[in-house]
Amino acid sequence: MKFQKPRGTKDILPKDIEHWHYVENTVREVNKLYNFSEIRTPTFESTDLFARGVGSDTDIVGKEMYTFLDKGGNSITLKPEMTAPVARAYLENSLMAESPVQKLYYISNMFRYEKPQLGRFREHTQFGAEILGSDSIESDVEIILLAEEIYKRCGIKNFSIKINSIGKIEERKNYIDTLKTYLKNNFESLSDDSKRRFETNPLRILDSKNEKDIRLTENAPKILDHLTPASKSRFEEVIDRLKYLGIDIEIDFRLVRGLDYYTDTTFEFISGDLGSHDAIGGGGRYDGLIETLGGKPTPGIGFASGLERVILVAEKNNFKFPEPENVILYFISLTPEAKNISLKLITGLRDSGISCEYDFLSRSFKAQMREANKLNSQYVYIIGEEEINKGAGLLKKMSDSSQSEVAFGDLLKSILKS
Ligand code: HAM
Repeated sequence: MKFQKPRGTKDILPKDIEHWHYVENTVREVNKLYNFSEIRTPTFESTDLFARGVGSDTDIVGKEMYTFLDKGGNSITLKPEMTAPVARAYLENSLMAESPVQKLYYISNMFRYEKPQLGRFREHTQFGAEILGSDSIESDVEIILLAEEIYKRCGIKNFSIKINSIGKIEERKNYIDTLKTYLKNNFESLSDDSKRRFETNPLRILDSKNEKDIRLTENAPKILDHLTPASKSRFEEVIDRLKYLGIDIEIDFRLVRGLDYYTDTTFEFISGDLGSHDAIGGGGRYDGLIETLGGKPTPGIGFASGLERVILVAEKNNFKFPEPENVILYFISLTPEAKNISLKLITGLRDSGISCEYDFLSRSFKAQMREANKLNSQYVYIIGEEEINKGAGLLKKMSDSSQSEVAFGDLLKSILKS
């Protein structure tokens, strides 16, 4: 084969598309119930948006972006995530003037140059939601409830919700100093990756998957113990509210997330069915992001989830996706004139919402019948020489093989009646 898709990308074929449609429709339905409106942003943005918004020391910006110079010499990046683009669009279009709280959702393709493996792609599809303009406990809860509802409707069982607070930027700075002092004593025992992160992004050492790092950080100072009373009590309020609503959560001091914009609440939805990349989704607050991008201080919170991962887990959990809708009526036309009549009838039926199919290969009666069976069509309508003379075709119901003569002009009525 001469051409192959780029590594880490995928073709979504017709046999798989129904699962995609189901998840996408569910995302839309649930967001509608929660009164979120859809936002779409460009596939690419100026590189600087992500460098500033997500942070140049993060893996995403430092290692994973698809960045290039366009013909005008501008540095462009295919979007690796949606929070910074949504924040940019919010500012550029002054959405705050329309309503002080904006509830936005998206389904869009993301690009990250990562090592492909189960549930990890170089182009993946994210759905997610953001609330801009509120720092209330309710907004934290709303986002977590929204995500949970989508997962439940996609048949995802056995997920856990991990939650943490990484405080405000100032609190985090102080904590990072304490963490570094602790890690300094054991620097040589850290993995190479963590040694590098010690300078660039020490917080991420906490969520390293390396055994040695995990053991070393087990007794490291915890960020929750370094929050101001206000941040701590905010976090406790979020936890209490979620517990009150019966949401099972697990506080995880390692949950620092990989993007620099986070403040206070961070959370992830974890599924044991995903292997080492166990997050089906994640998010948190980002109360400083809009300001970083040049706006007035504006709080925000959101989450995003990989659609591929949701489908993967749903399939592993044997979720019964709705059966695809089949062609209702297959036309078997046996002469050129029969084809003309069929086409005319088909056009009228399709206008009335009846799905129809017919033969494109001038196949024999038998072969057309086989095709109708393969398509699982509910009816076939047969038109040959004799039927043309009578002005009526033979309508056969596939489920019980019953058949009756139905005049061309009565076909729609007859289908709608049965
Ligand atoms: P993230 O954790 O980088 O967060 O990505 C969100 C989700 O996207 C992950 O939990 C995972 O399900 C999926 N995902 C990420 N990378 C890949 C990949 N290479 N292949 C397949 N799936 C992937 C964000 O992107 C934040 N913008 C989320 C957010 C929204 N925070 C606040 N608002």
